[in-house]
Amino acid sequence: MTSSNPMDLYTDPKLFSGVDVYAVAGNPISHSKSPLIHAQFALQSHQNMHYGRLQPDLGGFAKAAQDFFAAGGKGMNVTVPFKLDAQAFADVLTPRAQLAGAVNTLWISDNKVYGDNTDGAGLVRDLLAQGITLKGARILLLGAGGAARGVLGPLFEQSPQHLVIANRSSSKANELVKIFSKLAQGNNLESVTLEDLEDAEKTASFDLVINATAAGLDNESPISNKAAANIFVPGSFAYEMLYGKTTSFMQQALQKGARVSDGLGMLVEQAADAFLIWRGEALATAINPRAVLAQLRS
Ligand code: ATR
Repeated sequence: MTSSNPMDLYTDPKLFSGVDVYAVAGNPISHSKSPLIHAQFALQSHQNMHYGRLQPDLGGFAKAAQDFFAAGGKGMNVTVPFKLDAQAFADVLTPRAQLAGAVNTLWISDNKVYGDNTDGAGLVRDLLAQGITLKGARILLLGAGGAARGVLGPLFEQSPQHLVIANRSSSKANELVKIFSKLAQGNNLESVTLEDLEDAEKTASFDLVINATAAGLDNESPISNKAAANIFVPGSFAYEMLYGKTTSFMQQALQKGARVSDGLGMLVEQAADAFLIWRGEALATAINPRAVLAQLRS
């Protein structure tokens, strides 16, 4: 599948008479696979809709979103760097968007803009689809930025036994522990630094290690090889939230015999959730996210 459809670039609802128009907003946005994914869902469930790309200027999200919805746009996905702007733009937030501290899905209902966050649910569904057991699991979450915060709520819903947040700077990880400690209840939530992971006395291995840092964008791993030797065993599963390449983090896990996954499945699954919010939950049986994922990988 390629992203060569020039119509992706058009998002003005006035150009699409009789067709419901959606868009993904980000900067940059040309790389986004969301138009392809939603086009496949629309095809599978026979929906007459157009889904395009929107690239607001940095600082120009609210104006772009305002114009899009005023012109008749039905819904919008929001990606880097506008998820906080989208949260501020929404009139009403779902509880999970409040908890995530960010919004990736907007829509209009009763003249109000609603904001939700489907990232965490997307991650959990992808993990479950790959056969990962989350109930009772020991989970290590690397990173304490927006991507990490967005997935914590849905991960806790799966009742892991233990969840450790490891971050380069301890203040952000401590902050997340404060925010989520009530939700964690008996789930044993704690924060450590990335350096702490190098200490074999303090660190055990994990069933699941999720890389929610931005390190892969700079071709780096957030963890040293020494830390990798402590946290990965052959039964571990390493999940990289980025997609499209085997990152250094994934290579470290593979070297320790762990199984790995990139984040393409999470992208498809979070899109499926947004699609169903917009077009109706009744279409859940009509769309097939795993088939779309297989197509993207082919
Ligand atoms: P996002 O919304 O993608 O999570 P963010 O809020 O800027 O972006 O957070 C980026 C995360 O990646 C942070 O946890 C950051 O660690 P710090 O809080 O210590 O800055 C982490 N990060 C970025 N580059 C990293 C690197 N090279 N090594 C380790 N952690 C890194």
